[in-house]
Amino acid sequence: MAASKTKTTWFCSTCGNESSKWMGRCPACGEWNTMVEAPKQSPVATRTSNGPSGRKAQHLRDIDFSAEARVSLGIEEINRILGGGMVPGSLVLIGGEPGIGKSTLSLQIPLNCPGLKTLYVSGEESNRQVKMRAQRLGGDDSDCFIYCETQVENIIEEAVSLAPDLVIVDSVQTMSTSAVESTPGSVSQIKEVTAMLLRYAKESGVPVILIGHITKDGYIAGPKILEHIVDVVLQFEGENRGSYRILRSIKNRFGSTSELAVFEMTGSGLREVSNPSELLIPMHEQGLSGTAIAAMLDGTRPFLFEVQALVSSAVYGTAQRSATGFDTRRLNMLLAVLEKRAGFHLSAKDVFLNMAGGLKVNDPACDLAVICAVLSSNFDFAIPSDVCFAGEVGLSGEIRPVSQSDRRIAEAARLGFKKMFISSFTKLETKTEGIEVVNVADVPELVKSLFK
Ligand code: TYD
Ligand code: MG
Repeated sequence: MAASKTKTTWFCSTCGNESSKWMGRCPACGEWNTMVEAPKQSPVATRTSNGPSGRKAQHLRDIDFSAEARVSLGIEEINRILGGGMVPGSLVLIGGEPGIGKSTLSLQIPLNCPGLKTLYVSGEESNRQVKMRAQRLGGDDSDCFIYCETQVENIIEEAVSLAPDLVIVDSVQTMSTSAVESTPGSVSQIKEVTAMLLRYAKESGVPVILIGHITKDGYIAGPKILEHIVDVVLQFEGENRGSYRILRSIKNRFGSTSELAVFEMTGSGLREVSNPSELLIPMHEQGLSGTAIAAMLDGTRPFLFEVQALVSSAVYGTAQRSATGFDTRRLNMLLAVLEKRAGFHLSAKDVFLNMAGGLKVNDPACDLAVICAVLSSNFDFAIPSDVCFAGEVGLSGEIRPVSQSDRRIAEAARLGFKKMFISSFTKLETKTEGIEVVNVADVPELVKSLFK
């Protein structure tokens, strides 16, 4: 397919923004010197459906649903975040920084699932390298075919003749198609390759897992374009130094988003951590100030983890505020609430906040644990280790109810917590045995009942 060279367009290689002319700075993401030229042409994927397709509109009740059984991937945690296995014909994008474990995770899928005939396409490693990794991961009695190729036309041809149950493509940035005249990894290549794989998945009904590298600022390269083409986006994150990895669903057409699974990187691959609370709550027994346990909910699963704070007198003029895994602006807001509504003078103090296990938290229910950890460190007063918290803190210092409090309480009770602080405005449906629920309406009341 020869592309007409007369028309070209410009893409930002960071965010995928399209422009008719070159610009030094991308107006969409603000990055400098990222515009690359790509031939303008109608993508192959959209060119196919000219003329009648032979399909007709079908009544909802006549659509056969029973055939849509999901494909189980052998790793329970992945099945769970996908919403119960992979939907036939779906395209799942797994994104993450280099070295986080995307290739390891995706190779473990066929290895853990013996009956699953898989075509594993590697554009980055040789057959022998993949074999070496498979051996390390402890299994080659799987039904897995390794294909080292970067031309997407060849990959689809091979997939059609092999007729596997699952195709894994590692990674989208190394793949290219002759339909587009730009280098592999460029925005137009990524877009086209993804569109072709999507079309293969939809036509054959074979689910496809596509791996994508994320650029330094957290974008899946050629990012927004891919996110809306694919059915599911899973993001693999975690600190490279630490051994815990978190797989998070950020888009899912067939299940809930913001589901989360925790894995541990071991010498023989990734191990599922089916009960993350056990690893995210402290090892120490009693008596450490500056920590508080939050009962958070990610997607559909409640779990508990430790919030750590360190408050100390500012050495330099202006106080430092830093938060890992928590929004710094929200921390500043919570500190302002403590100052204004409860009379704690923290403006001259340095405040450092850390979420255990390299977790990134965005559940507002963690607010309560954050302020308790800060106060605990400030007064050097240890919160008993069998106490936990779930509540959002409002600007006037009120403590607001959070979603699914019953489930959070039940999880806390299961893990042996004896006391949980929640908002007085919470409407509980059931009473959980073995845990005392303390209702607090605002920050002063919380302080009174916790630090009395
Ligand atoms: P990899 O899966 O290649 O990451 P990605 O495909 O996301 O770039 O490897 C991730 C890291 O994990 C690598 O630094 C080596 C390490 N690792 C282990 O610790 N144990 C193992 O069994 C394997 C296979 C890799
Ligand atoms: Mg890799």
